[in-house]
Amino acid sequence: MIAYGTTAVSRLLSAERRGELRVWLGVLTQCLEVANGLDGTAPIPTAETKTPAPFFSAQPPPYDKRPRRDERFQDPYNMGVHAEAFLYDETMPVGPKTLMMFYKRLREIDVPEMMASIIVETKDKPWGYTVDMTRQLWDEARHAMMGEVGFIRAGIDWRKFVSVNFTWSLALNTQLGPLERHAVLYFIEQGLMPKTGKRFEWEVGLASGDTFAALAQDYDWADEVLHARIGRDWYVKQMGDSRKANDYGDACWSRVLIDWESYRSQGLTKHKNWWPELYREYCRLRGEQPNPAVEGFSTSYQQVRADLKDISVSG
Ligand SMILES: [Fe+2]
Ligand SMILES: [Fe+2]
Repeated sequence: MIAYGTTAVSRLLSAERRGELRVWLGVLTQCLEVANGLDGTAPIPTAETKTPAPFFSAQPPPYDKRPRRDERFQDPYNMGVHAEAFLYDETMPVGPKTLMMFYKRLREIDVPEMMASIIVETKDKPWGYTVDMTRQLWDEARHAMMGEVGFIRAGIDWRKFVSVNFTWSLALNTQLGPLERHAVLYFIEQGLMPKTGKRFEWEVGLASGDTFAALAQDYDWADEVLHARIGRDWYVKQMGDSRKANDYGDACWSRVLIDWESYRSQGLTKHKNWWPELYREYCRLRGEQPNPAVEGFSTSYQQVRADLKDISVSG
């Protein structure tokens, strides 16, 4: 079958193209040799079998730290809806709180945006560092996808109703060095582990009766335990001890400027409160009457309550 395919293809190709492909075929053969064949069971033919030279990555691509997103993200500086103020308000019902959790998960798209810059700019680490950090980056991307799935399951087009900002990743990537960014990530993730963080969100998921919301929060919490381990293995070890690691993270985080007012004065956003429309859509889909207290929620990140400081960010 392979012989037939090759003959059929070569009949269709010009001599010039065949010449080009011969080079490619050589690289492919070399790759297969170092991989011990297609299924990994063939013996390596000679002791000198060499790993192919970098091809597409021969010239390292220039890395742009500023996050860029596609057209689904219409208002990336919008900090008009304080998700945690709603989530931790005991007078608010648990049903609509799942929407805020889906939003918080979706907003976590800023964590891989930030972690990518740590991985790219941190040199001279063992391979295990890249493996662990990439695993965590993938987890964070998955958390964002869980938020998106939550909205889709609820029948809500989040692109229309929710503004997902990138102010955190933008600020960290442009204001801090790679170790400082890792310090902030560690410090924030430590703050998510007590009762008020991931556990609380999971309990809200359970109480809401939305099994997907509970499941998503269960995964989110479980991953956070692993992330704490990754933080200890790489960041804390480098810093010496957990006390120093925490203090440094705290200091770096307090240097970061996420300036609500300046985003508005520069015309980057109006910080529109998108919550009432999202909530009305949620009620419409469920055939419920909007609750005026819920509909009227209008706390933005202009007023961050001190006790919500550490949990009002991603992780
Ligand atoms: Fe996360
Ligand atoms: Fe995390």
